Amino acid sequence: MRLPLSKLRDLVTDFNALADDANWNRFKSLPWKDIKPDLLTQGQKEAIIFVTHVEDYTPGYCAEYQALFPVNAPSRDEAMHNRELFHFVSRWGLEEDRHAQSLALYQVKAGIESDWDTLSAQMIVESQKEFAVGYRSLLQVCTYAFLQEKATQLYYQSFARNVSEPVLIKLLHYLTRDESRHFIFFSKVVGAYFDCFGLDCLSEVEEVAVNYRMPLHNTMLDYRRRAIRMAREAPGYDRAIPLKILFRFLEQIAIRHLEWRESINASIDRMAGRLRLSLP
Ligand SMILES: [Fe+2]
Ligand SMILES: [Fe+2]
Repeated sequence: MRLPLSKLRDLVTDFNALADDANWNRFKSLPWKDIKPDLLTQGQKEAIIFVTHVEDYTPGYCAEYQALFPVNAPSRDEAMHNRELFHFVSRWGLEEDRHAQSLALYQVKAGIESDWDTLSAQMIVESQKEFAVGYRSLLQVCTYAFLQEKATQLYYQSFARNVSEPVLIKLLHYLTRDESRHFIFFSKVVGAYFDCFGLDCLSEVEEVAVNYRMPLHNTMLDYRRRAIRMAREAPGYDRAIPLKILFRFLEQIAIRHLEWRESINASIDRMAGRLRLSLP
């Protein structure tokens, strides 16, 4: 299954048309001189370190996109598709890299780790580990990103509500806005797949949802304890919400295509059962 070139181009163009206007400067947009590290709790500092690691995975993702969707694919149609996708990946990668670096900068300015070289050495440890998204089709990669972008958006939003340090609040607002735009792109891609290929998409989406884990879950030392502590810093954040949003998204598709309703509802029931999620 490959999206028609014109469809992919429309989605990528819409994304980049918004993104080109949505800039912020990681070095200059934040009022660094107003930072008040005393307002940060130990738990908040640990949460910042954790999300810096998560954001710092961008080089791994970009390499994965390049491996899965090479612009030098032998088939001309495939290469054109991949070249179009690259317009998205390069812009998205820039934004995610800005997230990682602005969070790292925050760590330095707030004295969480005030030495850049020490911080870089801590961060590279995660990047040196083996990393793979684990999916081969664009539909599955985008379904995974649908869940992950929504999770990060919701996390930053909830975290910001619980923080009193003003520069961190501002940074988290920038991050939330970007993640929300990323989520919209990935959800539009998944929707376009259903428009083009119908119910053939369902099993691929289902496979991603039932196996959904955050990046680093199988590589970071002490991941589970750190993830629990990180969630504690953002009251209201619940890792089940992105999955429930995916279910709602599928229900919306079923409303537009009543003939798919039975299959989609059965799929949602299966996923909810596997994930032990209660449905309203
Ligand atoms: Fe991000
Ligand atoms: Fe993102």
